[in-house]
Amino acid sequence: MTDHYAVIGNPIAHSKSPAIHAAFAHQTGQHMDYGRILGSLDDFSGDVRRFVAAGGRGLNVTVPFKEQAWRLLANRSARAERAGAVNTLIVQDGGLLRGDNTDGIGLVHDLADNHGFNFSNKRVLLLGAGGAARGVLGALLESGPAELLIANRTATKALDLARNTADNRVTGHGLDKLAGRQFDLIVNATSSGLGGHVPPLPSDCLADGAWAYDLLYADHLTPFCCWAKARGAKRVLDGLGMLVEQAAESFALWRGVRPDTAPVIKQLRGGAQR
Ligand code: ATR
Repeated sequence: MTDHYAVIGNPIAHSKSPAIHAAFAHQTGQHMDYGRILGSLDDFSGDVRRFVAAGGRGLNVTVPFKEQAWRLLANRSARAERAGAVNTLIVQDGGLLRGDNTDGIGLVHDLADNHGFNFSNKRVLLLGAGGAARGVLGALLESGPAELLIANRTATKALDLARNTADNRVTGHGLDKLAGRQFDLIVNATSSGLGGHVPPLPSDCLADGAWAYDLLYADHLTPFCCWAKARGAKRVLDGLGMLVEQAAESFALWRGVRPDTAPVIKQLRGGAQR
């Protein structure tokens, strides 16, 4: 029997998730299909209900529905709870719906496992305080950095997010308060790159050997990756690896088997499914 999965978002036409999950299913021999749903902006819950009523077993949820999915699903994992967002919906045996969030663990797997970044004793700068930043914050902290500074254009949002972690390694600031600070890892979780911009950062905020990670990905270097490369970052990574890693975590939640991500990342980097 074939089980049905899909990604729901708006827009959705360019999502790579169907290709990623098709590759995972092929690799692991799972009998499943995975489609895409253009979610209606005013009836997300209706779309979910119809998918489940038609026998769907799980959904990936993407922009702009992650917070709505969180509100819709009362049964949530601790990490989804903390993120305030759901990117993975699981239809459990008996039909109960559960919400999880694999974005943060996807980022950490990409950084630590695929690329060998070691978080211990590191100073991390997280740029942004919106949904994307909230989604990765918990997993970054669990990776054990010495300190994590959240900086946002609107300072109050960074302060609130930092306070909510109740973790004394975390502080929140405006982007204008970074002068003289240096970081071993800068994670860009702002949406500024979509408009071709980079958050205004002091040019010396990258420590020697610093890494830069943009949650955005593109065929070309993203504006933030360009910025970091030009300032001598040791490693500059975009979010394609995170995309595949978060998908692998969702796949494992649904199917009980974790696929090998390396060949799928390689396939996507090759431009086969842009
Ligand atoms: P997402 O779900 O992608 O995180 P969001 O919740 O709207 O989207 O958050 C967007 C984030 O990008 C915010 O942190 C935003 O800063 P503000 O809170 O000040 O709005 C940040 N952002 C967007 N455009 C930016 C820009 N040009 N420069 C700096 N930060 C920007």
